[in-house]
Amino acid sequence: MRVVVLGAGAIGSLLGARLVSAGHDVLLVGRADHVAAIRADGLRILGREPVVVHPRAATRWEPGEPSDACLVTTKTFDLPAALAELGTRPPVPTLLPQNGLGIDRLARSGLRDAGWTEPDRWTVRAVNSIPATLVAPGTVRAAGDGEIVLADAAGAGPAAAGTDVLADLLRSGGVRVRRVADLEAEVWRKAVVNAAINPVTALHGVVNGSVRSDPLRSESLALLREAVAIARAESASLTEMQAEEDFDRVSRATAENRSSMLQDLERGRPTEIEAISGELLRRGEARGLSMPATRAAVQAMRERARGRTPQGS
Ligand code: PAF
Repeated sequence: MRVVVLGAGAIGSLLGARLVSAGHDVLLVGRADHVAAIRADGLRILGREPVVVHPRAATRWEPGEPSDACLVTTKTFDLPAALAELGTRPPVPTLLPQNGLGIDRLARSGLRDAGWTEPDRWTVRAVNSIPATLVAPGTVRAAGDGEIVLADAAGAGPAAAGTDVLADLLRSGGVRVRRVADLEAEVWRKAVVNAAINPVTALHGVVNGSVRSDPLRSESLALLREAVAIARAESASLTEMQAEEDFDRVSRATAENRSSMLQDLERGRPTEIEAISGELLRRGEARGLSMPATRAAVQAMRERARGRTPQGS
């Protein structure tokens, strides 16, 4: 299949590499330094299954270049620009594995504005737990096990056919795919874990394992409880106990990792605070819920972002 990966950073490049190894024709669209390194020396994947592959790579997706499927692996803050680009092309099954809430709504309206008439048929929301780090331009470390969760046939609605296509595509590259009836519950579970781990690790400049013991554990759990209250108010099937189990499992499994929010902050890039904790805060406030921990975290991240010095792309 011809696959375009829009926003090929760590996870997009890793998925792209797996698909190249499976014989697909992959175009990675990413930042200039990453693209230049891939063109010069190939894409190097480190980790348990190291490999060097040679996908096509470009900083833009040239008009007229066809695709059969698209993986939109941008961060949430780059999603609108990617959708504006994608929506001018013929529709294809499109994977959306971003962190945060309200991504499918944002994607559908962005694609409709750009020209697609039936974006619901093509956009496939996903929850990603495959850890990947861009260690240098052209080099990605696959940091351990993980999976892509997609809706099953009953839960996928109008996007069912596209979801099957993307599930088969990813599995052909050896990517673990799990299909579930209630994808929205998985989106919430991931958002709650991100809300508990990411701002705390970013603000304190520590690896994920640091939130496993006090004082940071209490800070994270206060955020977790506020996030679960919103999830429940919005009818997501999630209990505090399940959320704490998820938090313990993820913080243990990724103990040595620096969260994506910490990495973005360190690189002087925008972070996903608005799509995760900011969105929770907006939803909570709309319901009249008190969210002191989330409000403080969002405020502190905004201040940190205002005061930071960009250190390159
Ligand atoms: O955003 C991240 O970094 C990851 O989603 C997680 C689960 C917090 C692990 O680092």
